[in-house]
Amino acid sequence: MQTLNQQPTSTTQQTAYYESDNLPKEAFLYQRQGPWPQPSPRNPKGEAPAVLRLPRKEKEAWKKKIGRRYFKNMWTYWPKALSYAYKHRGLHKIKDEEFNHYLGSGVFSKFLIKGLSDQKKEIFKEFLPDDFDSKEYYVIDFSLMSYTKPFEGIYATGTIVVFEKVNGELIAKLIYVDQYKDKKIVRPIDGELWELAKVYAMQGAAYKLILSEHALLHFPFDCINAISKSTLPINTIVLQLLLPHFEHTLVLNKVVLNSTASPVENDQKFPYSGFLGDGDGQRSLVACAYSGIEGNDSYNGYHYSKEIEKFDSPYYSFLLEYYNVIKKFVTEVVNVISEEELNLIKDWAKHINQWLPTFTPSDEILLKDNLIEELTMIIWDVSVAHSADHYSFAQVPSYLVPLRVRVNPEDAEKGNIDWENGMNIKDMFRYRMEREMFFKPTNVSNLFNTEYNFDLVNYSDGTKKYLKDLNAIFLRELEEVEERLKQKNIPIFIPLKEMARSIQY
Ligand SMILES: [Fe+2]
Repeated sequence: MQTLNQQPTSTTQQTAYYESDNLPKEAFLYQRQGPWPQPSPRNPKGEAPAVLRLPRKEKEAWKKKIGRRYFKNMWTYWPKALSYAYKHRGLHKIKDEEFNHYLGSGVFSKFLIKGLSDQKKEIFKEFLPDDFDSKEYYVIDFSLMSYTKPFEGIYATGTIVVFEKVNGELIAKLIYVDQYKDKKIVRPIDGELWELAKVYAMQGAAYKLILSEHALLHFPFDCINAISKSTLPINTIVLQLLLPHFEHTLVLNKVVLNSTASPVENDQKFPYSGFLGDGDGQRSLVACAYSGIEGNDSYNGYHYSKEIEKFDSPYYSFLLEYYNVIKKFVTEVVNVISEEELNLIKDWAKHINQWLPTFTPSDEILLKDNLIEELTMIIWDVSVAHSADHYSFAQVPSYLVPLRVRVNPEDAEKGNIDWENGMNIKDMFRYRMEREMFFKPTNVSNLFNTEYNFDLVNYSDGTKKYLKDLNAIFLRELEEVEERLKQKNIPIFIPLKEMARSIQY
């Protein structure tokens, strides 16, 4: 890792400028009329605060750079979607090795929970060996699927998968299927019931990712985005550090959450509406992540944290490499921030903390480690973590991770599984349209070439030059990560060149 030798003293050019309330409105991006959070209009307690009144400039930029693409995709992509749907019609079985691979090492491995809790032991007790305490178990809980509201003829069920780690590899051993009536827990020896249980679990993985866990990367950051733009003057280092990572997001998130044409609403008049049921069901999955599920210790509700969440898989190791590079850059940038700017940051943290109660409060944000971690989390979440989710999900063949299953779990127990009609061509067509428009990454601006507008900060020329040099080093260090990953034998879950710098899809 590279470092710069000289760190300039952090004095601003005009110290009086930093008396927050005395600043002229022109000192702010939107003249003190910028965006601000409010309780979610649809679900004040079950969803993150929403930002609904948005600057016209941001709305226009979004329409031009993102909205137009949706229209283009909708009118031009359908032949490819149709061709894929025809080729991969029917419901596909997934081999055990593929099931273990996709859930155990890629993007879905975020859901792995190490060990068996008392709740899970109670569910699986009859199927655990006597020496289960000496074995290494992992669980992925897709119970949230019980909260969906499928259209007629489409089915979903909560599932819980138990893996055992054997010679460093995760192997699925048991699956609990909530809607199997006679035999709720199945094993690989259970033939077609096991095959179908894996399919329901993969369906659960798609929904848990797209509508539950991934939503946590999107929406809680809206209030940080809005409050930063409205409380930090244009000439602060922190605002300039964050702005590239806030591009297009507020409008995107508002459209996703509130438009009747949103994929979440799943209105069947749109060809990209491929989810299994009505909008309320989809929204309840967001609430499962945000508010938790009572009595289920795998769903404890969301609490914003500036700390990266650890989980035991190569996907985590991949994300951590980038986190560390961002943290080093942020640390060096924060070290330059003047006392005067820190006063403004206190105010910034106070406002955010009112909306995200676990965000570092104003009296602790001046401990520089806290500020460094908060800023690193914001940048890492909206760039690396967000893009990696989309890219990795798009790598999984759609026919192995279905959005719709037309097999009734109860019929399956009677030995009646119609794989050929388990997903029809229309289902897959809609899915592929949705994937092209909303799931697959389509970058507007990338992380690898981010240039921060440090020219605008109210610091000496020496400091500005130093910040620009730090920016250049940061970009070089980002480029070095892939080589390091290869040396450590960690898969590249998304190439650096494919990472967006902000949430833009
Ligand atoms: Fe996203």
